[in-house]
Amino acid sequence: MALEDQRLPARTASYEADPDAVGRVLLLYSGGLDTSVMLRWIQERYGAEVVTLTVNLGQPGEDYGVIEGKARALGARECHIIDARDQFASEFILPAIKANGLYGEGYPLFTALGRPLIAKLAVETARRSGCDTIAHGCTGKGNDQVRIEATVATLAPELGVIAPVRSWQMGRDEEIAYAREHGIPVKGGTEVAPYSIDDNLWGRSSEGRWIEDLGHPPEQDVFQLVTPPERAPEDPQEVTIEFERGVPVALDGHRMGLVRLLEEAAAIGQRHGIGIVDHIEDRIVGLKVRDIYEAPAATLILTAHRELERLVSTIHQNRFKRRLDEEWAYLVYAGLWWEPLRSDLDAYMEAANAQVSGVITLKLYKGLARVIARSSPNAVYDASLASFAESGGLFSQSAAPGFVELFSLQSRMAWRVRNRS
Ligand code: ARG
Repeated sequence: MALEDQRLPARTASYEADPDAVGRVLLLYSGGLDTSVMLRWIQERYGAEVVTLTVNLGQPGEDYGVIEGKARALGARECHIIDARDQFASEFILPAIKANGLYGEGYPLFTALGRPLIAKLAVETARRSGCDTIAHGCTGKGNDQVRIEATVATLAPELGVIAPVRSWQMGRDEEIAYAREHGIPVKGGTEVAPYSIDDNLWGRSSEGRWIEDLGHPPEQDVFQLVTPPERAPEDPQEVTIEFERGVPVALDGHRMGLVRLLEEAAAIGQRHGIGIVDHIEDRIVGLKVRDIYEAPAATLILTAHRELERLVSTIHQNRFKRRLDEEWAYLVYAGLWWEPLRSDLDAYMEAANAQVSGVITLKLYKGLARVIARSSPNAVYDASLASFAESGGLFSQSAAPGFVELFSLQSRMAWRVRNRS
C-alpha cells in the first residue's frame, strides 16, 4: 500500500493524539533507523514540525554530535540532548539498589528504570518547546510503550502521544526503502537485521534474530559489553564495595560519586565476564520474550548490597523485604513508576537501608562474583554467640530443648494425625 493511501489509525486511548491536532511534535530520537524514518514521516504525514530529544543515560559509545547532525539534516527544528546520568543514577538506579531490584530473578530492570525518566524529560522538553504531541519509536509488542505512555499520560494529560512504528504498517524492508527514498542514511548491510539493543549505565539488553529461537545458544557477537567468561582473565580479582545507608560510596577503598562508581564497577565486571543473563521473561503485554542481558555493574552491586542487607537485618526483616522487593520490581517492570504504592514501598526501603552500611568483598573469576568477606558496624552478629564455645549473655544453650519442643509442636501433632492407623 502506498504511504499516501494509508489512513491514520483510529484512536483507542484518551491520550492518543488527535491527528488534526498534531502541530509540533517532540520526538524521542535515538538516531537509529526507526526514529530517523519517524522524523521524516511525521513531517510528511501530519505536516507537523518536529523537535528531537536524545537522552544520555550512560549508553556507551554514543556520539551525540552525530545524532544531532542527523536530526538537523532530517529537518528537526530543535535538537535537545540531555545528559541525565546523574539524575538517572540517584533517582532511579539508587532506589533499585535499595530494593534489590530484579525482575523474574534475573533482570536488573535497567530499561524499565530508564523509560520513566526519558518520558519525564520528554514531557518537560515538550512543554518548554511548545509541542503538543510526544512521539516515540516503541512497537506494540513490548513493555517500553507501556512505560513511556503511562508516564506521559500521568504527568502531562494535556499532551497527545503518537507511536508511528505501531501504526504505520511498514515492515523492515519498506522502512529501508522509505529511508533510501528520503535520504536517510542506513547503517551497514541490510541483509541481516540488527539486534534490538537498549543500554544505559545499569546494563544492556539484546533482543531479536536468533535470540527468538529458544533452543539457540548465544552467538558470541551478541556480547558487546561483557567478555565471555571463557575468555576472561585467568587471574581472579578481589573488589570491595562500601555502602553507607544502602548507597554504594566507594570501590576498593576509593570514594567516588555514583555515576563514576557504576562506570568503574561495570568496567571491572566486564573484564571478568560478570553479569551475563540469558533470560525468559513475562512481558506486561502477555507475550514471553527471551533477552540476553549484560549487566556487570548491577550484578556486582546488587550481590554486595543483598549480602550486606542480610547481615544487618533480622530474620523477620529479611523475609519480609524479599516480598516487598519483588513487588517493587514488578511495579517498575510494569511501567508503573508513578504509582503511589511504589513510593510507599520506597519509604520502607529507606527505613530498611538505614542500617545498610559496611564493606563487602567480592572475588571475581570467569563469570562469577562470589562474596568472600563482609564487615559492618550494624551486623546483627556476635562471633562469640556463633561459636561452639558456651557463652553467657543473650543466648543460653540450655534453653534450646524447650524451644525445639514448642517450635516443632504443631508439626509433630500433624504427623501423628496423618499417620494414625
Ligand atoms: N525486556 C526488557 C524490558 O522489557 C528489555 C527491553 C529492551 N528494549 C528494547 N527496546 N530493546 O525491560
